[in-house]
Amino acid sequence: MQVFIAKDAAAAAVKAADIVEGVVRSRLRPRIGMATGSTMVGIYRSLVDRYQAGALSFSGTSVYLLDEYVGLEPRHPQAFRNVIRTGLADHVDLGDDAVFGPDGRAPDLEAEAWRYDQLVTKARIDIQLLGIGSNGHIAFNEPGTPFDEPSSVVALCEQTRSDNARFFDSIDDVPSLAITQGIGTILQAKKILLVALGKHKARPIRDALEGPVSVETPASAVQLHADVSVVVDREAASLLSTARPEG
Ligand code: F6R
Repeated sequence: MQVFIAKDAAAAAVKAADIVEGVVRSRLRPRIGMATGSTMVGIYRSLVDRYQAGALSFSGTSVYLLDEYVGLEPRHPQAFRNVIRTGLADHVDLGDDAVFGPDGRAPDLEAEAWRYDQLVTKARIDIQLLGIGSNGHIAFNEPGTPFDEPSSVVALCEQTRSDNARFFDSIDDVPSLAITQGIGTILQAKKILLVALGKHKARPIRDALEGPVSVETPASAVQLHADVSVVVDREAASLLSTARPEG
């Protein structure tokens, strides 16, 4: 596992975007697993900047969402598909048909989660971006989720709903269900890029990287993967015990 400590959130976004760019450049048909949330905003902005400067093309790239809320209209500003569209795809050479995600309004949600699981497995993701929840979740796999559970329909825990309430008018508007890639599905990616910013991520990052591999900290599952890069700012790195150089 490689851990890069950046001096601040902006430097972390650039470092993470460098890693994504490296994968995009090295593949003919790159397949990128994308997360949403505030951690990702600067990374996608940096990728857009590179495209607009003529330095990077996403031609041939496919994007696979990590998760999606249940029940939101596809054009709802917080529907993850829309977040990726407005934050990235609309500004680069990625067509709408190159972005795949679970349909959170499918009539049979469990069947949809399974369909998506098969799609992601078949795609063989080249790099999967991950944020981490304040409770250690990855995607919407909350503490206690078995690592071998496939993509599924999950109930969001109150901590996650209250963390995400900042994106909605009120906590009551935060959906209580989501479709998420399973941890086993995520670990099938050839490479994992975990990013965390801010003091509130210091404890979950320490638990994920230095704690035991445990379902109580879903992000600790990354310790089981052979190719993991972690990008953190100084605040998120503040509880790591191992001295690591800034990069
Ligand atoms: C989003 C996702 C979540 C977030 C996590 C961190 O697709 O799957 O696991 O990555 O909740 O969110 P932020 O970056 O908003 O702190």
